[in-house]
Amino acid sequence: MRNKILAANWKMNLTQQQVTSWLGEFNDLNWKSPHTELRIYPSSIYLKDIQAAGLHGGAQNVYFEANGAYTGELSIQQLQSIGVQSVLIGHSERRQLFFEDDALLAQKVNACAAANFQFVLCCGEAIETRTAGAHLDFVLAQLSENLRLLTETDLHMLVVAYEPIWAIGSGLSADLDQITEMHQAIRNHLVGLYGVGGEQVPILYGGSVNAANAKTIFSCPNVDGALVGGASLDPLIFNELWQALQA
Ligand code: PGA
Repeated sequence: MRNKILAANWKMNLTQQQVTSWLGEFNDLNWKSPHTELRIYPSSIYLKDIQAAGLHGGAQNVYFEANGAYTGELSIQQLQSIGVQSVLIGHSERRQLFFEDDALLAQKVNACAAANFQFVLCCGEAIETRTAGAHLDFVLAQLSENLRLLTETDLHMLVVAYEPIWAIGSGLSADLDQITEMHQAIRNHLVGLYGVGGEQVPILYGGSVNAANAKTIFSCPNVDGALVGGASLDPLIFNELWQALQA
């Protein structure tokens, strides 16, 4: 059985004071469950606060080198040295705004695997690609290229997040048919690449998940949870998503 995962991507939001109050409020709520993982991806300066609150803290980005003259970057080894448990790789904002390409992302995936570090690989198409009917080919090609250096032995470190770019932060999530079609295609692709091991990789949906649509999205086959931006910034709403995932 695949674990379900609810992950908060806080992006470049929240001050120290807001993080402290978020954690205080959230930890007062009922959120523990044996079969569901909760993960928080804050700005890295807050990772220690997340961990001190007893939550899974993950970084939003990482560089593939272990150390050296790379001003502004963080390495997997640095993250591991403070107990960080995972990282997002290839979020569309990294791809589009910071020009991270598939070759770089494959190196990051490879570095995570070599360091035994869990990662969430994000993929997703732009609206023009979907309108042209090329969304499946595009996303599966992204996966093939980004996972090119990942072997079956290291597959347990992988979580995939499908995040259509047009749904991120737009208030307009993909509909159930679109989600079902893409998640099934990703599942088949992973099984094609890795055999039965591909059945065990959790696939999250991301893009305008909120308290109103979470339950129906979670009921789609091959949706093992969500990566949530805007709706994760309010601890009460995020807890509603958590409850929806348990149902
Ligand atoms: P959103 O962001 O939930 O605000 O659409 C999702 C994401 O970018 O991970």
